[in-house]
Amino acid sequence: MDDRPGESEPYWIERPRSRSAPSERRFLYRGELLAFTVDAGVFSSHGLDPGTALLIENLGVRPDDRVLDLGCGWGPVGVAAAKAATRGRVVLTDVNRRAARLARANLARNGILQAEVRVGEDFAPVAAERFDLIATNPPYRIGRPRILDILTRAFDHLAPGGRLVLVGKGSQGIRYYQEWLEEHWAGPVTVLARGSGYRVLEARRPAAATLGAGGTERPRPARAGVGAVSRSTAGRSA
Ligand SMILES: C[S@@+](CC[C@H](N)C(=O)[O-])C[C@H]1O[C@@H](n2cnc3c(N)ncnc32)[C@H](O)[C@@H]1O
Repeated sequence: MDDRPGESEPYWIERPRSRSAPSERRFLYRGELLAFTVDAGVFSSHGLDPGTALLIENLGVRPDDRVLDLGCGWGPVGVAAAKAATRGRVVLTDVNRRAARLARANLARNGILQAEVRVGEDFAPVAAERFDLIATNPPYRIGRPRILDILTRAFDHLAPGGRLVLVGKGSQGIRYYQEWLEEHWAGPVTVLARGSGYRVLEARRPAAATLGAGGTERPRPARAGVGAVSRSTAGRSA
């Protein structure tokens, strides 16, 4: 699918310049028809991305979950998560201000009160906060080192027992990221779903009680991990 909003403008810039052209999209989630406004200059402005759809279907949000939707775009993941986390709380973040505005409007449009949208890069908008679930269709186009940095830092933003759930397809290097997580993540890594070339991966932070006396609480440092993995997988494309 084409994830570029225009010929010359990437979707992950702070202030898109492409002319605004709002339109309407809807999708069913848990029997409820959710309604969205989308626009040019944001990811998947033509409708729900198939990878995002697979991610949403497999999130397994619980009613009390505190959820982070990192890179929310126009908000499909965060809105769906908030519909499921009825007693929880959802934070949606994006670097793209137009995307953040749309996501905010889409929360209101779907009657969601326990969620908020923040603008910023990576984990900057959530500083020291921890979540039960970090859900993301990551911005693969920002490059492998930065995606690995996000994966590494996600660990520190998960509560014990919390889950990082991400989606990607073969051409985005999802098998590479799966192997990287299996090698570097200090907890179980599971493939939750596969379909149309996409995989949904879950990386769980162990509950504190399950760590042994010498057990590590963190993934190994990203820099060491990146070097180790890129050497052994040189030549693969993301
Ligand atoms: C692949 S899109 C997914 C959008 C939305 N979650 C969806 O599935 O339709 C990734 C999003 O991440 C945003 N983004 C790019 N770089 C980012 C960063 N460093 N931190 C947070 N968000 C970022 C982009 O603007 C984009 O909206």
